[in-house]
Amino acid sequence: MIKLENITKKYMDDSKDTIALDGLSLEIAEGEMVAVLGTSGCGKSTLLNILGGMDRPDSGKYFFDNEEVSSYRAIRLHNFRKKNIGFVYQNFSLLNRYTVYENMAIPLLARNQKNYRKKIMDCLEQLGIAEYANKFPQKLSGGQQQRCAIGRALMTDCRLMLCDEPTGALDSKTTIEIMGILCEENKHGKTIVIATHDSDVASNCTRLVKMSDGRILI
Ligand SMILES: Nc1ncnc2c1ncn2[C@@H]1O[C@H](COP(=O)(O)OP(=O)(O)OP(=O)(O)O)[C@@H](O)[C@H]1O
Ligand SMILES: [Mg+2]
Repeated sequence: MIKLENITKKYMDDSKDTIALDGLSLEIAEGEMVAVLGTSGCGKSTLLNILGGMDRPDSGKYFFDNEEVSSYRAIRLHNFRKKNIGFVYQNFSLLNRYTVYENMAIPLLARNQKNYRKKIMDCLEQLGIAEYANKFPQKLSGGQQQRCAIGRALMTDCRLMLCDEPTGALDSKTTIEIMGILCEENKHGKTIVIATHDSDVASNCTRLVKMSDGRILI
């Protein structure tokens, strides 16, 4: 499904240049659940952003289904994201002025879907937060907010779910619940890549990828 060939990504700052990805190559098959591990600053978020088409490599090639995503122009890249990618951020990034239900509806509205009430409510039910549908995210616990963020990513019917430290702000009991939800999605065929520092999270995955200084170690 995914093939990265010799990807480099550099950030230029006033004071110095940072090489975030340094000739990284990686393949991921459909249906894998991959944990990306490594010390802070080794390039995990940068890798996820490139996989999700949120950012472009400076050099190297990114293939998805044998198509070269790294050559796409803006509109095609936008459509690639819309069709294939669900993203779960560390800080949830829910829109606080909208209710849980409305946050879930945003990806569906963006895809011109109609009559989506049942789809949203079924998903909230499955995630165990249906009773909070009309509440605003600030009124929810961290775990409940993260479940909503996962639900929002699931509304896209994405093939590839990218999770950047999805349990970073959660206690261990809630982490187990969130991992249960992600494992279930993976069992139903979704490909998942999780950047994490948490060895418990990693142990739930089908494969571990270790990064160091912008490269893959194993
Ligand atoms: N927008 C940016 N501008 C400048 N440098 C950046 C930017 N984003 C990331 N970097 C640098 O690129 C390197 C890789 O960052 P990245 O966020 O990918 O690391 P990470 O492995 O996700 O770290 P963490 O575990 O702390 O989230 C770091 O040295 C970081 O300082
Ligand atoms: Mg990061």
